[in-house]
Amino acid sequence: MATMTYKGLEVLFSRQQIAERVAEMGAQITHDLKGEKLVMIGVLKGAAPFLADLSRAIEVDATFDFVATTSYGKGLRSSGAVKLIKDLDHSIEGKNVLVVEDILDTGLTLSYLRKLFLQQHPKSLRIATLLDKPSRRIEKIDADYVGFSIPNLFVIGYGMDYAERYRNLRTSVSCRRRAGVGKTGRPKEPGAG
Ligand code: IMP
Repeated sequence: MATMTYKGLEVLFSRQQIAERVAEMGAQITHDLKGEKLVMIGVLKGAAPFLADLSRAIEVDATFDFVATTSYGKGLRSSGAVKLIKDLDHSIEGKNVLVVEDILDTGLTLSYLRKLFLQQHPKSLRIATLLDKPSRRIEKIDADYVGFSIPNLFVIGYGMDYAERYRNLRTSVSCRRRAGVGKTGRPKEPGAG
């Protein structure tokens, strides 16, 4: 990981590093699909930039769908209380599905979604995440395609937010230095060094 700073934030992965890794992931996914069609399901809002780039690195006939989730709050998160606030537009029965997520953290969201989607009996269901924080896992779940595995750091940019901000940082995926991360894992003052 690089140590250069961007407006006081530590840059984890440069725009070029992300582009190269996304291209590699796209090539792998293309290979694994063996020419079959794909439904890409983006988990709003954070996965939007990753889905846009990844989809253009996948060379099969692909369609998009989106879901959105929320959690009942910090106190209940460990019980897995994730709630769907936007459902799929179309059935995924018999389809090859790729769930696209920005970051896999506790695993509560993707565990919930995987269970929900499997009820529709897709032909296959795989998960792609740009970032993975395995040390934070509460639910046992792995992604099939991982861009980068990272330590327990709070990350912003390339879709990821702090209080809905910074999703459009396009040059990098950034985070606070570990020492500056508060008890909740959120930055105390995003933007400050
Ligand atoms: P999980 O259910 O704990 O795996 O959380 C997944 C979601 O939490 C992601 O899609 C993000 O929206 C959010 N999240 C987890 N870690 C971070 C982070 O470091 N930065 C920004 N959002 C995060």
